[in-house]
Amino acid sequence: MDHDLIVIGAGPGGYIAAIRAAQLGMSVACIDAWSRADGRPAPGGTCTNVGCIPSKAMLQSSEHYEHAGHALAEHGVEVSGVKLDLDRMLARKSKVVEQNNDGILYLFKKNKVRFVHGQASLAARVDGGFEVAVSGAEPTSLRARQVIIATGSRPRALPGVPFDEQRILSNSGALSLSKVPARMGIVGAGVIGLEMGSVWRRLGAKVTVLEALPDFLGAADAQVAKEALKQFGRQGLDIQLGVKIAEVKPAARSGPVRISYTDSKGAECKLEVDALMVSIGRVPHTEGLGLDKVGLQLDERGFIPVDGDCRTEVAGIWAIGDVVRGPMLAHKAEEEGVAVAERLAGQKPHVDFNTVPWVIYTSPEIAWVGQTEQALKAAGRACKVGSFPFLANGRARALGDTTGFVKILSDAATDEILGVHIIGPLASELVAEAAVAMEFKASAEDIARICHAHPTLSEAMKEAALATDGRALNF
Ligand code: FAD
Ligand code: NAI
Repeated sequence: MDHDLIVIGAGPGGYIAAIRAAQLGMSVACIDAWSRADGRPAPGGTCTNVGCIPSKAMLQSSEHYEHAGHALAEHGVEVSGVKLDLDRMLARKSKVVEQNNDGILYLFKKNKVRFVHGQASLAARVDGGFEVAVSGAEPTSLRARQVIIATGSRPRALPGVPFDEQRILSNSGALSLSKVPARMGIVGAGVIGLEMGSVWRRLGAKVTVLEALPDFLGAADAQVAKEALKQFGRQGLDIQLGVKIAEVKPAARSGPVRISYTDSKGAECKLEVDALMVSIGRVPHTEGLGLDKVGLQLDERGFIPVDGDCRTEVAGIWAIGDVVRGPMLAHKAEEEGVAVAERLAGQKPHVDFNTVPWVIYTSPEIAWVGQTEQALKAAGRACKVGSFPFLANGRARALGDTTGFVKILSDAATDEILGVHIIGPLASELVAEAAVAMEFKASAEDIARICHAHPTLSEAMKEAALATDGRALNF
């Protein structure tokens, strides 16, 4: 055998699994196909190249642009002549991505993980393991006792409307538009639709979002979703719910994209845009992986079936991240990668999906962990609810960002925290306290009794915990 372990895919699931396995003394190779424009490897997967990292870079830059234009005057800072240099903004985003690509290559070196740049496919079962063929600049084949598949996901297209990344955009095209479209359409008001819609609206596009479901952000707590819809509407995002797309006519070379749809009342509508982003979910990426060569089959939705420990049906082959069931999140992929590596080393790790936090990096940010109030009600679980608005938080007032609230749900009998839902400033950071609390099975009373620094946004968490018992102090 060449190695103890081969990891296919160097996204957040794969590269983290490779590093953890190497830390535990295994000989590891990690194969990834993603290339930079000049052909050099670009490890980091969707997350680093066209996902989490570039989208957050663009969200940050576009927020600065919007603040410079609108929000600073209130602080007594007068700015005139604010101009957008989109080329520079995109160049900065690319630089941030490359820094992350290089960081992963450095980490592979540091941890003695062998990195192979190319397309991998399972070639055969061999005595005591598997053979993996790699095509690319330097074709090769490797053998290992264990294989982790971490090949991620790709965007789902509307039937009959392929991505051209010029006018019909996936997340990739939407992160690289060389010009701000005057009118942008988005199909799907999910996480990508809201984040990328916010970026291009801030940069000047008139954004219309067409969502099939009648409810907005159904996975979020209903109260948070309601507040978010109100805020996004105020900002100028035109979000239409309950629509049914009838036809999308892609543009001739330079013309507009024409969309016909019926709205929630059944009326026939037409929309003309300069660019249309389709963000209606992602599908697992398994093309050309040679699963049949080792006797693996996909489930009816195209995922690789695994058990709770990420074992596939073939002993010795594991699968993690977006290519298996569960939320398509980078940190979920990472946790699974670490857990599989530790399992291979004989340890007994555990990933609790109930404490995986969710974040939507819009403004206001939305973050949650655990159950929603509507899910608890549906399950018949009695809970106490405590909310605290940022309007009553001193730090939020000083920041000039008082939108939103923290909401804590705790068990009616035991007071154990069952869910925490935040909409407002730095919700993405605040949710970490909630995840820690839930991992430790904390009660709302525990949070209420912890001394939180003043003035901080985190005091809203303490106050929401106090509010579950009707004793908020500042509201
Ligand atoms: P991926 O990151 O998709 O990596 C898979 C890798 O495997 C890729 O590099 C691919 O080239 C490689 N590969 C595939 N097949 C082969 C093969 N046969 N041979 C060799 N290599 C192969 N999640 C968050 O948690 N937070 C966010 O803020 C966030 N923002 C996002 C924004 C956008 C626009 C998008 C699209 C996604 C975002 N996500 C976010 C989701 C996150 O990117 C994914 O959940 C995460 O990347 C999944 O990790 P993974 O390792 O399973 O797969
Ligand atoms: P999504 O699942 O978040 O949202 C897709 C939306 O499209 C849904 O609301 C769905 O009802 C709607 N939809 C589906 N078909 C439709 C149709 N034909 N017409 C109109 N609407 C339709 O998927 P999205 O936004 O593509 O993102 C994929 C995944 O990437 C997310 O689920 C998430 O896991 C991950 N992601 C995470 C981020 C984060 O953590 N901040 C950021 C971006 C993506």
